[in-house]
Amino acid sequence: MSNNAEAALLDRDAAHVIHPLHSRAVHAKGKVWVGGEGAYLVDANGDRYIDGLSGLWNNTAGNGRRELFEAGSRQLEEMAFASGYAGSSNPRAIELGEKLAKITYPNINQFYFTSGGGESTDSNIKMARYYWKLKGKPTKTKVISRILGYHGVTLAGMCATGIDIYWPMFEPRIPGFSHIPSPYPYFYQAPEGSESQGIAAADELEKAILAEGPDTVAMFIAEPVQGGGGVIVPQDDYFPRIREICDKYEVLLVADEVITGFGRTGKMFGLEHWGVKPDLIQFAKAITSGYFPLGGIGVSDEIVKTMDESGKPWMHAYTYSAHPTGCAIACAMLDLIEKEDFPGQARDKGKRLLVGLKDALGDHPNVGEIRGLGMMCAIEYVKDRATKEVFDAADGIGAKINAQAMQRGFFSRVRGDAYFVAPPIVTNDQTIDLIVEILAESTKAVLG
Ligand SMILES: Cc1ncc(COP(=O)(O)O)c(C=O)c1O
Repeated sequence: MSNNAEAALLDRDAAHVIHPLHSRAVHAKGKVWVGGEGAYLVDANGDRYIDGLSGLWNNTAGNGRRELFEAGSRQLEEMAFASGYAGSSNPRAIELGEKLAKITYPNINQFYFTSGGGESTDSNIKMARYYWKLKGKPTKTKVISRILGYHGVTLAGMCATGIDIYWPMFEPRIPGFSHIPSPYPYFYQAPEGSESQGIAAADELEKAILAEGPDTVAMFIAEPVQGGGGVIVPQDDYFPRIREICDKYEVLLVADEVITGFGRTGKMFGLEHWGVKPDLIQFAKAITSGYFPLGGIGVSDEIVKTMDESGKPWMHAYTYSAHPTGCAIACAMLDLIEKEDFPGQARDKGKRLLVGLKDALGDHPNVGEIRGLGMMCAIEYVKDRATKEVFDAADGIGAKINAQAMQRGFFSRVRGDAYFVAPPIVTNDQTIDLIVEILAESTKAVLG
């Protein structure tokens, strides 16, 4: 293809397509992807790039996995779609529920399927509110989440999301949503005399519940590792303390495993790292490795029992719930995850990536922190390592490093000056070493 092929496609795209995070200026310098080979993407000019964010954190298996697209095409041929509303089901949805029950937290055995993460956030908020009404506590409706948490951009998802640039264009926000500080080990300042940074960060939840009134709080939603907020790995004592606080005040703990689910962090699900069981989970992305838009929620035995005993229908529904084709691909993906030990691969390869990045960049004066868990890492760039002073947003350091990395064949995203490195779990060692080399060179090109 000619070098102009991509530019010509971008012009046509601009004429008729509005994109997520729509911005003409950003898009004018964008990419049009036409092919995928394992951990690599190919653009319309035929150039290859390492898929540094696995698509949008979802494509853990990489492109071109026959097992996945054959499962989808078999199901499309057999029966592309049938309703999943009460009174209808399909064998692939049944199989998927059975498979999920085996691998999710032991108290979670029933699943409701959606088309993605944001719909799953809404579904969990509605599930939590419904549960408390059935329990005779109808005032428990509020949602507490965290600053820098990302839970999608449906109206309720946006209100739970704690990255504030997502709010102003669409306010007023729904009442009853509040945010506590992120445990952010690099930046969080624990009050003087705290037992530990993790406990202090978790105790922010207790303060918020007490400020709102425990009788009004339905749930606390958190990603085990904050993804879009900057790959923020919490302290080891954080989630166990969160669980205690949720139990003390009868607040449901919702684990948003949309990124961390299905092996990404080196365990099948993120809270397993700290031996904590949530009341509700939500998942999407890697359940189909992005080959089909499918997500869902997992509901604890106690909540399901309460729903069933009520005898009342749950008036919540999506046309594409339990989509047979999506469920077929998800079943094939869960088989692949097990056969190829995705959690184990993520653990070992993630370690190689993190150690490589630390060796190459750990001493750089503008690298504040290199962090990660499994195959999700980030480099936090700062102006002054000693004081943790950040760069002016106008300097656009993260964006400049990203541009340099793209010139060298690595494609990812940033949140401010936190640079995400989360390639597919199947990325081989040679490519991992190449990522390290590219990011070291790109950092030096921008910051010396
Ligand atoms: C943790 C988390 N929750 C929810 C979402 C929203 O998912 P979706 O974009 O499929 O609506 C995302 C998307 O990145 C996410 O990372």
